[in-house]
Amino acid sequence: MPDVRIRIPGTPGEYPVMIESGLIFRITPCLKPFEGRKIAVITDEHVAPLYAGQITAAIEAAGAQPFLRILPAGETTKCMEQLTGIYDFLLDSGITRIDALLALGGGVIGDLTGYAAATYLRGVRFIQFPTTLLAQVDSSVGGKVAVNHPRGKNLLGAFYQPELVLIDTDTLRTLDQRQVGAGLGEVIKYGCILDAGLFRQIEACGSRENLAPHYPEIVARCIELKGQVVFEDPYDRGLRMILNFGHTLAHAIENAAGYGQVLHGEAVCIGMVAAAAWGTRLGITPPDTENHIRRVLTAYALPTEVPAGLTTEKLFPSLALDKKSVGKDIRVVCLEEIGRARTVPVPAAKLKAFMEQSS
Ligand code: NAD
Ligand code: GLY
Repeated sequence: MPDVRIRIPGTPGEYPVMIESGLIFRITPCLKPFEGRKIAVITDEHVAPLYAGQITAAIEAAGAQPFLRILPAGETTKCMEQLTGIYDFLLDSGITRIDALLALGGGVIGDLTGYAAATYLRGVRFIQFPTTLLAQVDSSVGGKVAVNHPRGKNLLGAFYQPELVLIDTDTLRTLDQRQVGAGLGEVIKYGCILDAGLFRQIEACGSRENLAPHYPEIVARCIELKGQVVFEDPYDRGLRMILNFGHTLAHAIENAAGYGQVLHGEAVCIGMVAAAAWGTRLGITPPDTENHIRRVLTAYALPTEVPAGLTTEKLFPSLALDKKSVGKDIRVVCLEEIGRARTVPVPAAKLKAFMEQSS
């Protein structure tokens, strides 16, 4: 069983990430440190019928008291109204500072519950049990927690680390293929920016079916890689930005298409192909990289082209609002080769010209 421990500086310090196929049936010992405490389980309406029973039973078996809150599924749940509802639920349940919140679900539930944990009573204990591939390889570790504001995604948030992350890769069996694909986009991203060996492994497997048996080791590797980056740059001031490879165009696509039309991970796939092409034009990325990434994405039935109708005119305004922008420059993550990335400031006008030439 791969038991990855990632190191994150600051409170509460290093925390364990347990990754195992079938872990949900064996988590009681992991929850023993919460004996005598209350644990508020926050989940959504799709995940609750599948896994909430096992989680609450394990909490009881560990000698803790579970409280269950089931929210609507989807991105719109990551909002102030649902957050306020969670605070009321925690107060009604008598949750105090020595108790814990457990996020059971995808990135939406993880980000929302994490923000509630960071702010309720100025911070309570926080456990992540991610159930989507995207949440297992990315959002459940690293401490970014947030809710959306009507004017933009993740505008209200904090850096708040969980004290325990429990990952059962078998939960991915109930996830629909579109969501699996969105997570695979992020997995391929880790290969592109940090680990040529991981990229080669994904390429050699060649299909979702062949890769699935390797999920425990793949998830563990992605978390190890993210852990190293977050350890170097916990507050996203430098190195951590490379995790945003492909995200410059991806955020613009998500925005222009309307949130939920193109999933985040799908948009990242399209954005990675574009970023490789931009990198080549900037003289940073070797010329065949764009096609190499495109071939791997295509083998995994992932999108590589900007959806029809999303012209540069439609995409560019939100691209220029990218959180990584500095003055008139947009900071783009470019590959020096597969497995090595750096952030490069590119004048906005130049990027617009690149986009116009390729459309
Ligand atoms: P999600 O949480 O909306 O989950 C996708 C869908 O899958 C939902 O309908 C959910 O109910 C369902 N689901 C979850 N697990 C399931 C399972 N095992 N079986 C069946 N259905 C299941 O989406 P997501 O892609 O996991 O997360 C997206 C969110 O993550 C976005 O809000 C994004 O901003 C955030 N995010 C955060 C970070 C971070 O570092 N904090 C990083 C990346 C993304
Ligand atoms: N998902 C990007 C980050 O955690 O920085």
